[in-house]
Amino acid sequence: MNIALIKSKVTEIISTTDDNSEKLQLICNLLKETITYYDWVGFYFVNGDKKELILKEFAGEPTEHTKIPFGKGICGQVALSNENFVVPDVEAQDNYISCGWKVKSEIVVPIFVNGKNIGQIDIDSHTVDPFDQSDVELLEFTCKKVAEFI
Ligand code: SME
Repeated sequence: MNIALIKSKVTEIISTTDDNSEKLQLICNLLKETITYYDWVGFYFVNGDKKELILKEFAGEPTEHTKIPFGKGICGQVALSNENFVVPDVEAQDNYISCGWKVKSEIVVPIFVNGKNIGQIDIDSHTVDPFDQSDVELLEFTCKKVAEFI
């Protein structure tokens, strides 16, 4: 993975439009199309004062899990832990919400604005154990960039 190139494309996308929703959609498309083992890329955001996440922009197959309570699934756990969650094999997780039998692994990285966890990027992969430190670095970078305009 050429991280530097993908990072520069993320930065470029953000400067091409003033529409935040379009920025998020273009980031989802970029990551899904560029990284072969990213099969679903989406952004969940905290729903106001409610203890739940709402799915906003995504690339990949539509999911019925558009609303996730805090604490539920990998996403809901990250809403509470404020930590990255790398899942090499979803079958090993008890607290996991399946988005289809093809999904084998997942990575979720939180987005912080003024120190507050306001949402996250969620990646599903059809490959077992595909993520390494470069994914963490790229996704943390992306979340920081998103935090600047959201
Ligand atoms: N698998 C997630 C649910 C969201 S989907 O991956 C799109 C979870 O366990 O929270």
